[in-house]
Amino acid sequence: MLDTAFKLTLQRSGRSLDVAADTTILETVIAAGVEVSYSCMQGLCGTCETKVISGTPDHRDDFLNDDERASNSVVMICCSRSLSPNLVLDL
Ligand code: FES
Repeated sequence: MLDTAFKLTLQRSGRSLDVAADTTILETVIAAGVEVSYSCMQGLCGTCETKVISGTPDHRDDFLNDDERASNSVVMICCSRSLSPNLVLDL
């Protein structure tokens, strides 16, 4: 399945970014100069966990449990994407 581009809104910094189909959320925010924590970049460690304000994440990590995944309240930005056209994060 091909990934699709989506809009990313950073609530705290009031910024709007485009996540390209071939780029991760993490790469996009780093390129925009936003300071974020990360480590494994493979969805394993949980370091990049970020609160979701609105939108539906496409969870692709191996860190969250089923309940956390279903709540859509947090997302691992190193590997997960968005199912909605816009994802709003607490960044
Ligand atoms: S950096 Fe490890 S889960 Fe994202």
